[in-house]
Amino acid sequence: MKKILCLMLTLLFCFSVFTACAAGANNTETGMLIQLQMSSAHMTVNGIEKEIDPGRTTMPVVVDGRTLLPARAIVEEMGGEVGWDESSGTATFTSGNEEIRLIVGSRTAYVNGAARTLDVAPAVMNDRTMLPIRFIAESFHFTVDWQESSQRIIIKQGEGASVVPNQPNENNGSQAVVIYFSATGNTETLAAKVAAAAGADSFAILPETAYTSEDLNYNNDNSRANREINGDERPAIQPLNVDFSQYDTVILGYPIWWGQCPPVVRTFLANTDLSGKTIMPFCTSGSSGISGSLGKIRELAPNSTVTEGFRGTGATTESQITSWLSQNRFGE
Ligand SMILES: Cc1cc2nc3c(=O)[nH]c(=O)nc-3n(C[C@H](O)[C@H](O)[C@H](O)COP(=O)(O)O)c2cc1C
Repeated sequence: MKKILCLMLTLLFCFSVFTACAAGANNTETGMLIQLQMSSAHMTVNGIEKEIDPGRTTMPVVVDGRTLLPARAIVEEMGGEVGWDESSGTATFTSGNEEIRLIVGSRTAYVNGAARTLDVAPAVMNDRTMLPIRFIAESFHFTVDWQESSQRIIIKQGEGASVVPNQPNENNGSQAVVIYFSATGNTETLAAKVAAAAGADSFAILPETAYTSEDLNYNNDNSRANREINGDERPAIQPLNVDFSQYDTVILGYPIWWGQCPPVVRTFLANTDLSGKTIMPFCTSGSSGISGSLGKIRELAPNSTVTEGFRGTGATTESQITSWLSQNRFGE
């Protein structure tokens, strides 16, 4: 009985599903975009950083080539309904007219009553129920892409999905917003710490065309990154859906590329009017400092105050971030 109760609680906390709210509430213009990073307990939902399994550090795992993860947070984001039948160990997810049933330990799932064979069965691992995310997302008409170079799973609201995404720009009361670009995850990790220290929302700058590992080849003079830097290009980025009028400070994070801020960050600055606001730049890098990248930021945001930058690493502590923030009069 204790075991069953434990399993039930686990399921309630962890079951992941992509469900929709009202049928017909399709919104492809601001379609939901969820990004998950392998080896990260965080996801972004329309650019806002969230924990996959709030209060825990559960990360996606790969079993036989399929990614399993807990995503109670995703259920909450999408307002889906989750049912649980204790006697059969069956979870039922409903979304409009769609219904998915998954059974722990079974490779047979049911979509609108029709049996489907899963590549990998739902499983309980370390007390968390791990579900095959691609199957669930695709059953609810989301598209799922795997980006090998950045080890990311990108889930997008598809044509048939009837989801009302959360409004992406729910200001949490802070006057600051973290905007960052990260090609391989280092800056994303630091951005999460910076956002937590500043009590700020966080949004990712996403290129229209994701960078492959070859695009990022530092040693190839003709790599995409190299060409874009040398040509001072402005590669297209996805819409950010941020209402900047709500913020007076933009905390801007990026990796250093050849001593500079990456071209997509330049695109963001060129496209966004940050007049009168304070920009606080931070970066990650192999070893270079941030100062060489600040000139371009000042050039592209001539009517903003650009503060002293901060270079962080995976080992950066909250007190180091807080110290940089306060030295630059953040929050005053
Ligand atoms: C195209 C490219 C150019 C880079 N140039 C530099 C550089 O000039 N100096 C440096 O210290 N690191 C450089 N790096 C290393 C990155 O700045 C570093 O790995 C950073 O943490 C990556 O952040 P990300 O994982 O958020 O993309 C470069 C990396 C790439 C891909």
